[in-house]
Amino acid sequence: MRVKTLGQFIIEKQADFQYAKGELSRLLRDIGIAAKIVNREVNKAGLVEILGETGETNVQGEKVKKLDVFANEQFIAALKAGGECCAIASEENEEIIPIDSEVSKNAKYVVAIDPLDGSSNIDVNVSVGTIFAIYRRITLKGGGKNEDFFQRGTEQIAAGYIIYGSSAMLVYTTGKGVNGFTLDPSIGEFCLSHPNLTIPKNGKIYSVNEGNYLHFPDGVKKYIKYCQAEDAATSRPYSSRYIGSGVADIHRNLILGGIYIYPTTTKSPKGKLRLLYECNPLAFIIEQAGGKATDGVKRILEKEITELHQRTPLFIGSEEMVDKAMEFLKASVALESK
Ligand code: AHG
Ligand code: MN
Ligand code: MN
Repeated sequence: MRVKTLGQFIIEKQADFQYAKGELSRLLRDIGIAAKIVNREVNKAGLVEILGETGETNVQGEKVKKLDVFANEQFIAALKAGGECCAIASEENEEIIPIDSEVSKNAKYVVAIDPLDGSSNIDVNVSVGTIFAIYRRITLKGGGKNEDFFQRGTEQIAAGYIIYGSSAMLVYTTGKGVNGFTLDPSIGEFCLSHPNLTIPKNGKIYSVNEGNYLHFPDGVKKYIKYCQAEDAATSRPYSSRYIGSGVADIHRNLILGGIYIYPTTTKSPKGKLRLLYECNPLAFIIEQAGGKATDGVKRILEKEITELHQRTPLFIGSEEMVDKAMEFLKASVALESK
C-alpha cells in the first residue's frame, strides 16, 4: 500500500476551500514541521541528565530550556518564517505576538497555541501534546490584534493537536471531518493512519481528576457516582482513566469512546482549562468527529471570548456521555434553586 503523507493530503484537500490559494496548506505544513522538531526533543527528554545537560547550561554553553519554552519557540519561529500568520497567541506568552514582516505582509491567519500540553508529564516519560487553532484575521493589515483572537470557536478555520506518545500523531480538522497522521520516524513524515476519525456515541471511560472531588459541583459528583454504579445494561461501572495531559486523555477517548471533564472547582471557580487554545480547538475536533463539547450548560464553540487566557469548565467526548453529565448538572442546579 502506498502511504499518503500529511503534505500530500493537505494539497489534495486544498480544493475543498473556496478562494484558498494554498495559504492554509502552508500554515498547516509549517505547524507539522515544528511538531517534528518538538517531537525530536521530547524523545530525548530522558537523556538530558546523562548528557550532563541538567544544569543551567548545556555542553555547548547554551542555556538549557524547559521543553514547554522550547516548543513555544519552535512553533513561533515556524509561524514567523512561514509568512501566513500575522499573530500568535500562546499559553506561554501573556500578550499576543504580532507578526508584521516582509514575508507576512499578506498573512490572512492568526494561530492560537498551547505549545506543550500536559507539562507535568514531561519529566516522567508520559505523553504530552500540542494544541492549535487557526482563525482568519478580522483586522485588515499589519500585525494581528487581540480582536483577531476574540472570535467564537465556531469561526475556527482549522484546529488540531499533536500527541507525543508511543507514536507521535497529528490530528486535525478543517471542518470537513477529522484525520489522523502518525509520524513514521524512518522517513520523517506524518502518514495518514486514521482517516475520517469518528468518536463512538457512547463509551465506558470517564476522565477527571478525582483528587479534586470534594471541590466539584454537586452535579459532577453525582455524575461520577453514576459512572461508578453497577449496571450491566449500560456496562457500568465505567473505567476511570486520567493521564493529566488533556490531549492524551481526549485522544484516547476519541478513539475508544469516553468523556473528559474539567469542571469548575471551589479553588478554580471558572475552571482551569483555557478557551482559546485548549477547549475551542479540542471542541472543534471532537464535534467534527461526531462528539460533543460543552461547559456543562453551553456549547464550547459558541462561548463569547473577551480575554486571551480566559478559562472555562469543559465536558467533552462521546455525545451520550456528555448529555448524561449535563443532565446531572441541570438536575442539581434545579434542586439548589428550590
Ligand atoms: P498545560 O500543561 O498546558 O498547563 O495543561 C494541562 C491541562 C490539561 O492538559 C490536563 O488535562 C489538566 O491540565 C491537568 O490538570 P490537573 O493536574 O489539575 O488535573
Ligand atoms: Mn494545556
Ligand atoms: Mn501548556
